[in-house]
Amino acid sequence: MEAGQNAGAGRTSLKHASSQRRLDGMSPTRSGSGFFDAWSLVYDFPLVQLATYRPVHNAVLRALEHSRVILDVGCGTGQLTARIKETRARARVVGCDFSSGMLHRGAHRRGAIGWVRGDAARLPFADEVFDAVVSTEAYHWFPDQERALAEMRRVLVPSGRLLLAMVNPPVRAVSTAFNTGSRLLGRPFYWPTPGELRTQLEAAGFVVVGQRRIFRLAGMLLPPMLTSATKPRRGSTTTAGPRSPSAS
Ligand SMILES: C[S@@+](CC[C@H](N)C(=O)[O-])C[C@H]1O[C@@H](n2cnc3c(N)ncnc32)[C@H](O)[C@@H]1O
Repeated sequence: MEAGQNAGAGRTSLKHASSQRRLDGMSPTRSGSGFFDAWSLVYDFPLVQLATYRPVHNAVLRALEHSRVILDVGCGTGQLTARIKETRARARVVGCDFSSGMLHRGAHRRGAIGWVRGDAARLPFADEVFDAVVSTEAYHWFPDQERALAEMRRVLVPSGRLLLAMVNPPVRAVSTAFNTGSRLLGRPFYWPTPGELRTQLEAAGFVVVGQRRIFRLAGMLLPPMLTSATKPRRGSTTTAGPRSPSAS
């Protein structure tokens, strides 16, 4: 199966045609996904998965509840995406990632899953089509986090659920130190603190429902955190609404 082929197969398409055209012209090198293409070669090693990603995926699966149309942004090789489909046979599940290397490793997984190549800052989907969006261990890599949140909000239905899981260092100095180090290594990322993530979500028009630490053996000093948020119903007065994303 070719990545990106079956996101809307046989039913109303979830895809956003103009966004997809832009993505088709995006080379992996220009988009920075080459690093992740290389990483995909070792990504599925059982020890790596067990020690690092499995506890995070378990936490998301427990929190997902009864969603029926679910998007996994920065899905990587689709380990979580496939488990979502396994545990919710009737749900429509789509994994989206900008790395073709990661996606091609996911495409062999069983189950009717849509694999779509796309950038978190320009999700190739129509407005208000998913009732849950999840993203695990990926958000810190998005160069424009504000824009990624605006996109996640756009594709969620009102009252839709957002689940974000990543390391959120307790203080900003730690976030800044890792950001500086990763920049020097040529692959910058930014782990927001729990408070910063909450502020980002609220500025994007989400209501934060909860934040809790996830225990895992790898990196015990910097445990990941699961943040749950919802997109308010139309006309709700609980938030001020989103700021416009900055132009890219
Ligand atoms: C550490 S992996 C996590 C994969 C998966 N979510 C998991 O938990 O196993 C980070 C993923 O984010 C993807 N990614 C990074 N920046 C992205 C962007 N701007 N748009 C879409 N995907 C991106 C990478 O290609 C990679 O597959």
